[in-house]
Amino acid sequence: MNDLIQKLVEAFGPSGFEDGVRALIRPEVAPYADEVRVDALGNLIVRKKGDGSGLKVMIAAHMDEIGVMVTHITKEGFLRFTNIGGVRPHGLWGSRVQFADGRIGIIGADRQEDRSKIHGLDKHFIDVGASSAADCPVEVGAAAGFVRPFHASGKFLSAKSMDDRIGCFVAIEALKRLESTPHDVHFVFSVQEEVGVRGALTAAHAINPDVGLALDVTMTGDVPETFPMAISLGKGAAIKVKDSGMIAHTGLVKLMRQRATKASIPHQMEVLEGGSTDARSIQIANGGAAAGCISIPCRYVHSQSETVHADDVEACVALLVEILAKPMAL
Ligand code: CO
Ligand code: ZN
Repeated sequence: MNDLIQKLVEAFGPSGFEDGVRALIRPEVAPYADEVRVDALGNLIVRKKGDGSGLKVMIAAHMDEIGVMVTHITKEGFLRFTNIGGVRPHGLWGSRVQFADGRIGIIGADRQEDRSKIHGLDKHFIDVGASSAADCPVEVGAAAGFVRPFHASGKFLSAKSMDDRIGCFVAIEALKRLESTPHDVHFVFSVQEEVGVRGALTAAHAINPDVGLALDVTMTGDVPETFPMAISLGKGAAIKVKDSGMIAHTGLVKLMRQRATKASIPHQMEVLEGGSTDARSIQIANGGAAAGCISIPCRYVHSQSETVHADDVEACVALLVEILAKPMAL
């Protein structure tokens, strides 16, 4: 389990530049799929056909991660940059980023008079060891992702892109375990979630599912002095009821809860006050779909050490298989 997770979370894939992640996932899923295709945006769409008696179901896990993009280069050869998705300036100082060609850059920041303050992104720069703009090996428009090796401390798994490679892992693993299904299931490994759930929107328009489920991380309320939230690491799959972009289909929430209870899968109910997932796009595409989300609890979301618990990952896989393997009445 950890080998595949490690490969996924260490891959390069800022929003819009998911090719490397897609190349990793494709051979993992192809032997279990009836159809595999890539759409114009870059979504990897993997279909497993049912026996014709069930519903059309879309499962979405996003391949992209947050990152940065070079906006201009100073005459001394330092790269100024903008964010790709929700990059926070806290903790950028001294971070390492990697470009598509593997080149590493170090993030520095302008001098700060008042050290208790944190600079905005515009006061940070990337140092790639160039001495002038002319000899800088990186161009304006180049994207970079953060660099941090995967780390497992017992069941606590940390990486720079658990959001949402761990969701991709849950989808891959569920597909592998799903022996048969009544449903026409489309697993979408989506692009550009972090910049506004874009890939899932076009995929949902094309697939037009009856039911949609996103697999994504959610925050937790179990660390000191954090925003209060009834989600803890290690306490099971989180069944989303609401986030700031979606109110989940009540019938689907009820079904997930019943299935989890019946199969003794640890679970917790989630209300996330900030943020959303691909399920938002699925819910409102075309004429709409019954949408929900199975969330993997994650500490330090959008940091370089996003941390999940192996038991929760397993619970999410088990719950997804439980849902897809049987008929659903919503
Ligand atoms: Co995210
Ligand atoms: Zn995410």
